[in-house]
Amino acid sequence: MNELPNPAALEDLDRASLFHPFTPIAEHERHGPRVMVRGQGVWLTDNRGRDYIDAMAGLWCVNVGYGRPELAEAIRDQALKLPYYHAFSSMASDTPIELAARLLKLVPGDMARVFFGLSGSDANDTQVKIVWYYNTVRGKPNKRKIISRLRGYHGVTCVTASMTGLPGLHAGFGIPLPGFLHTTTPHAYYNAKPGETDRAFAARLAEELDALIEREGPDTVGAFIAEPVMGAGGVIVPPEGYYEAIRPVLEKHDLLFIVDEVICGFGRLGTWFGSDYYGLKPDLMTIAKGLTSAYVPLSASIVSQKVWEVLREGSLKFGAFGHGYTYSAHPIAAACAMANIDIFERENLVQRAAERGARLHERLRARLADHPLVGEIRGVGFVAAVELVQDRAGRKRFDPSLKVGPRTLKHCLEEGLISRALPASDALSISPPLVMTEAEVDEAVARLGRAVDKMADELTREGVAFG
Ligand SMILES: Cc1ncc(COP(=O)(O)O)c(C=O)c1O
Repeated sequence: MNELPNPAALEDLDRASLFHPFTPIAEHERHGPRVMVRGQGVWLTDNRGRDYIDAMAGLWCVNVGYGRPELAEAIRDQALKLPYYHAFSSMASDTPIELAARLLKLVPGDMARVFFGLSGSDANDTQVKIVWYYNTVRGKPNKRKIISRLRGYHGVTCVTASMTGLPGLHAGFGIPLPGFLHTTTPHAYYNAKPGETDRAFAARLAEELDALIEREGPDTVGAFIAEPVMGAGGVIVPPEGYYEAIRPVLEKHDLLFIVDEVICGFGRLGTWFGSDYYGLKPDLMTIAKGLTSAYVPLSASIVSQKVWEVLREGSLKFGAFGHGYTYSAHPIAAACAMANIDIFERENLVQRAAERGARLHERLRARLADHPLVGEIRGVGFVAAVELVQDRAGRKRFDPSLKVGPRTLKHCLEEGLISRALPASDALSISPPLVMTEAEVDEAVARLGRAVDKMADELTREGVAFG
């Protein structure tokens, strides 16, 4: 274990050798990494012996918590029995078959088949190829544009970064690619008009979507993709009536609905899937993260009966479905997912997430709702965000150059709490392992509260007005 005595040597090695994702390179070379070496439950320990509550479950993914022997044993046993076999050309290994069948029983709607990948990005990329193939088989090869929402997060491949509605993923890459369109973020706090009800806001967003499709030409638009609750882009909970308003627009223009459950799936909203929470009927559903609690990489693109029948017809025209990864349907990942779902069922984790989530929201409100720095506390189930604003009454953000979000995150880390500074505004998120205890919920909120207090003191000392 790379703990003391010489943590600096490891950090220097990092600076000299590891290319970090989503990290400012020059700044990292100056400041170096924070290196985690151990985890148990919701707790992490770094290479300098400091302990943290991981209130983000890694990247919204370690749903059963760290250090679960059941998962380690499942991975080991499968590695000894059959570490790998592929699924190309009708070949298979046993565990992924069992997992696919189990997932089809778990997910809502009329889902027919499971295509396994390795990450949320590759699974959403697969979904786009399915949309293109589906419409080509139906004699509509031009029906291929994809609409997503600003601030939606769908991944980082060339196609999925194009669907992601965050400028930080586009800058320097010449992305979004042509054919990827974005519509308004369903965030009432900033985007509803004064006095507009949730339902009126939802209806306006649906009209806007309808107008966008009409403008582009319905014969050129293939699908709409949405996370039930936006995660990484800001923990944005859509207004009441949003999906009821959107669905008829998709049906009217013959668009497929891709539901990106990469964060919402596996208990995050206090239901098995976000689609359960909102009563959605996906044509295509993407899962990853909580599927294995991130112990090993695994994702899936789940295909509805309606789409499957067209894909089958396509095989008569095009032969083999020309897509798949070496590691698709990996037996070790499947074994881990099976053991992970066993834990969910045995420990009633979905129900627990709903209960602990209710406590989290209640505690956050009690501690921070009246804080002069806090504009909004939002979320559903066991995911929440605290929006920091300069002017509470006017809903006005701080100047981004003040970096209020990232600086508050630094205070969280000093307090031994891992949160995330979300993009596009100054918000901090909480999305813990679902096994977090009540006492740990309270402790996480106490630490976050102290970090927000420190930020407020700092701004006051700097002469920045807020409230
Ligand atoms: C909703 C959603 N979709 C897709 C992705 C991409 O997943 P990955 O990072 O595994 O490629 C993420 C990652 O955070 C996500 O939150």
